[in-house]
Amino acid sequence: MKHLLEISDLTPEEILRIFSLTEDLKEKTSAGIREPLLPGRVMAMIFEKPSLRTRVSFQSGMAHLGGSSMMLGDDVGFGKRESIEDFTRVLSEYVDVIVFRAKQHSIVQRVAEAASCSVINGLTELAHPCQALADLYTLREKVGTLEGAKLAWVGDANNVARSLAVCCGRLGVEFSLACPSGYEFPTKFVSTLHEQCPGVQFSQTSDPHEAVLDAAAVYTDVWASMGQEAEKEKRKKDFAPYQVNQELMSSAPDKALFMHCLPAHRGEEVTDEVIDSPNSVVVEQAANRMHVQKGVLAWLLGVHS
Ligand code: CP
Ligand code: NVA
Repeated sequence: MKHLLEISDLTPEEILRIFSLTEDLKEKTSAGIREPLLPGRVMAMIFEKPSLRTRVSFQSGMAHLGGSSMMLGDDVGFGKRESIEDFTRVLSEYVDVIVFRAKQHSIVQRVAEAASCSVINGLTELAHPCQALADLYTLREKVGTLEGAKLAWVGDANNVARSLAVCCGRLGVEFSLACPSGYEFPTKFVSTLHEQCPGVQFSQTSDPHEAVLDAAAVYTDVWASMGQEAEKEKRKKDFAPYQVNQELMSSAPDKALFMHCLPAHRGEEVTDEVIDSPNSVVVEQAANRMHVQKGVLAWLLGVHS
């Protein structure tokens, strides 16, 4: 059974296959064609945290493909009425794929282990693989070729940063992280990254100006992710020198894109001037979530693998 819990579940060839399905489906969507690759297929979604992009892009994408989807709410009693394993074994008798946004990564892993259908991680505290795929698809659309490009991440080394670092490693993109001391990726993550992506070009620095030099794109995300609300004020102080503003962007090449997974906290990790600038591709990234996830669904459900 194929699952997508982390980018490391995909080989570089599989990522490129998903991108090629995406390209085809996106072109057809633009031409008004909704290719029904998944008629009769059913997707269940369980979200333990809020979402606009992931939830709606998956549901619209599945509708485009001729399948249907259902959002399961609190009333199904996930984790409350019965064991997670019993719940999952039963749910996967009814549906073809489960998209799960969980408070704990270990819960999505348990669901995938118990499921007899495919499971897609719709964000955990450790990974956001669908976001990373859409981001690198967007970067490729904008710069033409990924091999040798550099992506600078300025801010918290969070779930999105982790998935992007692995996706960059898989696709030959240099990844440069700038964050305050104490907020870097854990050593274990970095050593696993090197094992999973031999030859990866990866660096960490506390100097954001150094990180953005020669970057094709400068990426940031909120300083306190969902679940870290208690640390919000401390993080605001610690990350203040890492705001992506025009001064920082002037250390990057003129053509450098600005990227953000959204939702953004304007005035904190990014200024209005940068996020609203012509170099900002944040809406294209969000739009590509749907196109790439259609590629993921078509690939994962074995229709066009
Ligand atoms: N970027 C992203 O995953 O957004 P949502 O939290 O709105 O799904
Ligand atoms: N890092 C953010 C991403 C939201 C899409 C969070 O986990 O809240």
